[in-house]
Amino acid sequence: MSSRYAETYAAWQADPQGFWGKAAEQIDWFTPATSVFNPDIGVYGCWFDGATCNTCYNCLDRHVEAGHGERLALIHDSPVTDTVVRFTFAEATARVSALAHVLRGLGVEKGDRVIIYMPMVPEAVFGMLACARLGAIHSVVFGGFAANELATRIEDAAPKVILSASCGIEPGRVIAYKPLLDEAIETAAQKPDTCLILQRDALTCDLIDGRDVDYADIVGSALAAGQGTECVPVAATDPAYILYTSGTTGQPKGVVRDTGGHIVALKWSMAHHYGLKPGEVFWAASDVGWVVGHSYICYGPLLHGCATVIYEGKPVGTPDAGAFWRVIQDHKVAALFTAPTAFRAIRKADPTGKLIDDYDLSYFRTLFLAGERSDPATIQWAQEKLDRPVIDHWWQTETGWAMSGNPVGLGAFPIKLGSPGKPMPGYNIHVLDDAGNPVPPGTLGNIVCKLPLPPSGFPTLWNAPERFLKSYMEDFPGYYATSDAGIIDEDGYIFIMARTDDIINVAGHRLSTGAMEEVIASHPEIAECAVVGKADALKGQMPLGFYVTNDGVARNATELEKELVQLVRAKIGAVAAFKTALPVLRLPKTRSGKVLRGTMQKIADGEHYKMPAAIDDPAILTEITDALKMRNLIG
Ligand code: COA
Ligand code: AMP
Repeated sequence: MSSRYAETYAAWQADPQGFWGKAAEQIDWFTPATSVFNPDIGVYGCWFDGATCNTCYNCLDRHVEAGHGERLALIHDSPVTDTVVRFTFAEATARVSALAHVLRGLGVEKGDRVIIYMPMVPEAVFGMLACARLGAIHSVVFGGFAANELATRIEDAAPKVILSASCGIEPGRVIAYKPLLDEAIETAAQKPDTCLILQRDALTCDLIDGRDVDYADIVGSALAAGQGTECVPVAATDPAYILYTSGTTGQPKGVVRDTGGHIVALKWSMAHHYGLKPGEVFWAASDVGWVVGHSYICYGPLLHGCATVIYEGKPVGTPDAGAFWRVIQDHKVAALFTAPTAFRAIRKADPTGKLIDDYDLSYFRTLFLAGERSDPATIQWAQEKLDRPVIDHWWQTETGWAMSGNPVGLGAFPIKLGSPGKPMPGYNIHVLDDAGNPVPPGTLGNIVCKLPLPPSGFPTLWNAPERFLKSYMEDFPGYYATSDAGIIDEDGYIFIMARTDDIINVAGHRLSTGAMEEVIASHPEIAECAVVGKADALKGQMPLGFYVTNDGVARNATELEKELVQLVRAKIGAVAAFKTALPVLRLPKTRSGKVLRGTMQKIADGEHYKMPAAIDDPAILTEITDALKMRNLIG
């Protein structure tokens, strides 16, 4: 089929309101919008002003009411517990409604916050949907974050209830969640009224009297008694959730998602970008703690009447590099969405792709990759071994869905390796130089999006409207600054090359080097430090720390490194993957005192670098090179 991308993008350009107004017809509203777009509300306007709706109703109840109650909605596939559990739309609706009833009984009402700190279990998704049912605002915290990160989020979101579990399960290791939860609540100034705890067989935990409630007991009783709640109408502009993401400091940014625009954009994307039909199975092999998990494990597939796979396992090691093919076969998955790093891990373990032949992939049509740069070699390998289109697409927590891609549902256009495609309708993407001037095609610059952002774009940061303006809106007035650098070529293809801030991307996880520096600098023997992202063949990037000790400190570098690694693990979490800290006598700086992280990163990656004009003392770069050579980190 020839691609209808160009005409669809042109139709959006010609009439954005008409375009999104039509897309909104796919959603069931309690009250229709008085205006599709109101430019006078919020920082850049808002979508579907005046409308009321309910996300949970659109994800669950309406499919049941339409006679699809027996259709499969959720599949929990957990190689780490060796279980597979399936829920139809009717079963999922009953469970979510019972949970919403319980939450309401615990005092949760529209607008209240609920933190969800859960492993990859169905109850995590039920929790998100139950909040949506009540109009409560959830904030899911990734299970790989440590107590301190959880505490920061509890303090900022001030939840009434926290939904958590006794443990998470990583290959070969059970992670007790409860001590982390208790420590986080102890640390945070704001305390939740109640913690609803899912006890898991792998490791149960003690419950604190008066605060903790057993999930299975209370929700099970509500379910058995047929108790539930109605879907509460909320304004399209009301917040649906807060998702904290890495910023330039240790204080994460609470990205706010509104309700109406979110569901309109996701529903549109399921049909048009991913090319799925209701009743098919969609699998986002991510975690509910990331935006990919929010949009495409939970909301997108269910809005579209698709079944979604909640996978509690890894691409390799659970038990082998055939795991993805087994899941695709067993659940008749039509489209898989994951991060390139997962494919690099599979390719490393099974370079010839021989495990693919052991499985029946006849339902599988398309592989989608996002979350980090897809290296052409990985894409080529996946294309060749799977003999299916491999679609790279680019997006951010802030947008909630793809800014650029290749819409399979409209007929894909030719793929250029290394490019995550062209802008999606709604996104008017430009490349500007640092002074805000457009650059010619093929020239590297700052990637920006002309305001307004389309439906699902974040309207603000939770509790931080000033930071929202400063981080995203001020550098290029009239545009949203993505903090990605890249090019648009003469054919309109986008290429994402690097971040322009100190965010690094480790195994598809967005991490702040600034946050790691804050932790390292808190060590009593450290005077100053810098963390950069070093290129890594498997994870894309790995954090690499350099530190200077206080005068008079004479410590064994191996021991100190162990302490720093442990400190980052304890404060941020294992997910930071911080493993290397090198002692140096000085950090390279400009004469005004700015640490030259970019140059250090180039040295660590063995790339050519220009001597920065404003460098204070060029000899320090040699010292950095020597420190890396000492550890065989560069040749
Ligand atoms: N709870 C607790 N710990 C977790 C965790 C969780 N939910 N997720 C990861 N961790 C831990 C890991 O066990 C690991 O611990 P270790 O240092 O003790 O080994 C650490 O955090 C780093 O995790 P990760 O960077 O994911 O490395 P890995 O070796 O466990 O797995 C991949 C590597 C490539 C297999 C894995 O990152 C992956 O499957 N990525 C897929 C893509 C993805 O999820 N992207 C997210 C956004 S789309
Ligand atoms: P997150 O907010 O965690 O989804 O991370 C968003 C960041 O990941 C983007 O700003 C990019 O730097 C990077 N990213 C996401 N998708 C892609 C992609 N397809 N190609 C290159 N980088 C990507």
